[in-house]
Amino acid sequence: MRVNHERWRERSIKLSFWDYWLELEDIPVYRGNYVEDVYTLPLGDWSRLGGRGAYLSLANQQVTGGYVVEIDRGGELKPERHLFEKIMYVLSGNGSTQVWQKGGKRLSFEWQAGSFFAIPLNAFHQHFNGSGSRPARLLAATTAPQALNAYHNLDFIFDNPFVFRDRFDTDRSDFFSGEGHSWGKRSWETNFVSDVRTFKLDDWEAKGVGARHMRFVMADGVYGCHIHELSPVTYVQAHRHGAGAMILMLSGSGYEVMYTARGGPRQRYELHPGAIISPSNMMYHLHANPNPEPLRQIAFRGGGFSLYGAGVGGPEAHMSELVPYDQEDPSVHEEFYRECRSRGLEPVLMPIKQGPG
Ligand SMILES: [Fe+2]
Repeated sequence: MRVNHERWRERSIKLSFWDYWLELEDIPVYRGNYVEDVYTLPLGDWSRLGGRGAYLSLANQQVTGGYVVEIDRGGELKPERHLFEKIMYVLSGNGSTQVWQKGGKRLSFEWQAGSFFAIPLNAFHQHFNGSGSRPARLLAATTAPQALNAYHNLDFIFDNPFVFRDRFDTDRSDFFSGEGHSWGKRSWETNFVSDVRTFKLDDWEAKGVGARHMRFVMADGVYGCHIHELSPVTYVQAHRHGAGAMILMLSGSGYEVMYTARGGPRQRYELHPGAIISPSNMMYHLHANPNPEPLRQIAFRGGGFSLYGAGVGGPEAHMSELVPYDQEDPSVHEEFYRECRSRGLEPVLMPIKQGPG
């Protein structure tokens, strides 16, 4: 895979290699802090990968990124491998994925809406739509911005012969079918979850009355993700931290509030299945659920919990501030109380939270 490095070097003072790569890919790129509905996001023909796709380069964070890809009915994407980590969530449809090392046997597993799985670092992989009558749409979350910006060489990233046998042993036929296992409270190691929308979570009262949570270690990687569920009529205290998180709503509904300075203007975004939020570096944000059903989210965190040291490199490692409820601008509470009471519900008062998240 060749790239005109001279052309990029001329512009590299203003343009990261990740952003240059997005130009070369020539599919739509969505930016900002919010995607309203990833299920219906317009896509473009994607010549490199096949299918139709669009990149998510949210909050200009240059840390983690993502893309949405749709595989036509009865179709498939082209095989690829790359030196960045990737976790995929199936938005709609059903199909299968093959994963292999060069010269090795192919492991295959099937997925459907709600499944999520990780692609082992630099392993070959290829996705197939299992339906002849409807497209399949997937969301990928990756560490591509970090990798591309660090090495700015596409051959190194996309055509690198190194095989990580320690991470992915193709003799382990249950690699994508095992149940997984717990690594203690609120953490689970697995490479595949059949339906993340119904995956059993652990309680985490410190996050609020009825809050539930699970962190995942996948494909022996360092790309952290977690599922968090806000219980009805609660909200998570505002906080801010380094960039890197991309959070998809799985079920329930609510709203997000973001602001760059205490006392300054606040931006509100509506949350519902398919909405994505991504706070900018050190931007205050809070999740609110004024509804009678839980609000479940999956957060791709750009690091965070892994077997190689909890908190290393993730947004929480750079957390610098939490806004306790009693220090919040009173209009934040008032808006939340109003939302709950307009639905005939009484808000649940939250304990003061101990940590970021
Ligand atoms: Fe956060």
